[in-house]
Amino acid sequence: MWEDSLKAVGNEPAVIHEDEYRARQSRLLSQLRPNDLLIITAPHESTRSNDVHYPYRTSSDMLYMCGWEDPESVFCAYNEDGQWVTALFVQPSDVLKEIWEGRRPGVEGAMENWPIDLAYPHGDLSVKLSKMLENCSRVFVKMGVDSDVDELIEKEMKTMSRAKQKLGTGPVSIVDPSSKINELRLRKSEAEIELMRHSAKVASQAHIQAMANTKPGVGEWQLEGIIEGFFKYCKTSGIAYPCIIGSGDNATVLHYNVNNDTCDEGEILLIDAGCEYKGYASDITRSWPVNGKFSEAQAEIYQIVLDSQLAAIDECRVGRPYDAPHEAARRVLAEGLISLGLTNQSLEEALDSEKGDLKKWYMHNTGHWLGIDVHDVGVYLPDGETRVFEEGMVITVEPGLYFGAWRPDVDCPQRYANIGIRIEDDVLITKDGPDVLSSDCPKTIANIEEIVGTA
Ligand code: GLY
Ligand code: MN
Ligand code: MN
Repeated sequence: MWEDSLKAVGNEPAVIHEDEYRARQSRLLSQLRPNDLLIITAPHESTRSNDVHYPYRTSSDMLYMCGWEDPESVFCAYNEDGQWVTALFVQPSDVLKEIWEGRRPGVEGAMENWPIDLAYPHGDLSVKLSKMLENCSRVFVKMGVDSDVDELIEKEMKTMSRAKQKLGTGPVSIVDPSSKINELRLRKSEAEIELMRHSAKVASQAHIQAMANTKPGVGEWQLEGIIEGFFKYCKTSGIAYPCIIGSGDNATVLHYNVNNDTCDEGEILLIDAGCEYKGYASDITRSWPVNGKFSEAQAEIYQIVLDSQLAAIDECRVGRPYDAPHEAARRVLAEGLISLGLTNQSLEEALDSEKGDLKKWYMHNTGHWLGIDVHDVGVYLPDGETRVFEEGMVITVEPGLYFGAWRPDVDCPQRYANIGIRIEDDVLITKDGPDVLSSDCPKTIANIEEIVGTA
């Protein structure tokens, strides 16, 4: 039933090659000293109830450093005779557990197929990690992810403080490696970009399917079912974040996600949905009329948001500050409010972050980094300086206008009551300008009207 969309998504790209993982590890380890120890942790499994667990998703740093996805894993790197050695603690093979819970690569599989030098059963962690800690001076670890590792490190720090004074060895400080890893994750490789492009292609087609199946009377939850079903149909791991499927006044609630309302004649529907493909997120929003034809009032707002989004995308260029898209979008949105007579303020007044009218109807930022996490890592103001775009960075561009008539804090203009519009694309910075990874997803008024309700 989804064959055309599946064809439009195209073939799956290559997975990240072992050499790339090794290069990532080297880039990080080259910033450490020989007597440092690096530990990358993953969260514990979480129980839903009784014997049922929430679907497991490992830490993004674990995915980035070695691609291991299963629970009970710890990645370490230590220096031995001038060489960095990487080790991964994993769930060992266990026939009984595997009969119930599924097959495991085990220690042997990890050694054979993952980019590491050594693999150990997770049960050896305490003994082996204690030994590694004895021999190191700084421990690079993000605390608060794996409580067992935290406890072990704290215990070693305490018990070894005496020995340290006598022998001069043992851990002296805990350092969070996140700032170093995040800088690496911020710039995407060719292989990562292809995975992200695929993720965005799947999400684009999911939006097209949702558009085609929209008509008055359809349930937000039914469109959610189509989107999530399509994500799975394309062999992604599913949603990258809970789908936002808001019709009517729900479209004016930024992170609405109960998705239990009926889409009614005359309403705008806003869908913000993205998938995770091989660990990489897409994040797309489109807004369309439930009945397939924008009313005049809806089209007025839609066109302003679209113009602001195009102006913002045009700022996604090497060397431009990361907030240039936000400033461009704000300007076009404020001009739009003025042209519709929705404010008596001047442009500069409307843009004022304290007293401007723009923030009544546009209350969020225009974008965020995108990658392994939907709100991906990367400092926006490194050392207090505004980050400038570099090749390989991926940012979302997602301006909107939200006229919630239910809001007690503002007087909503009647003509635009409960119109909520956001248009969000995923944009790669390249030396040739912005490359919209989600460009398969229609966004002009004409293109959207052509599709809505055609299923
Ligand atoms: N999907 C959440 C966001 O757009 O940031
Ligand atoms: Mn977003
Ligand atoms: Mn979004």
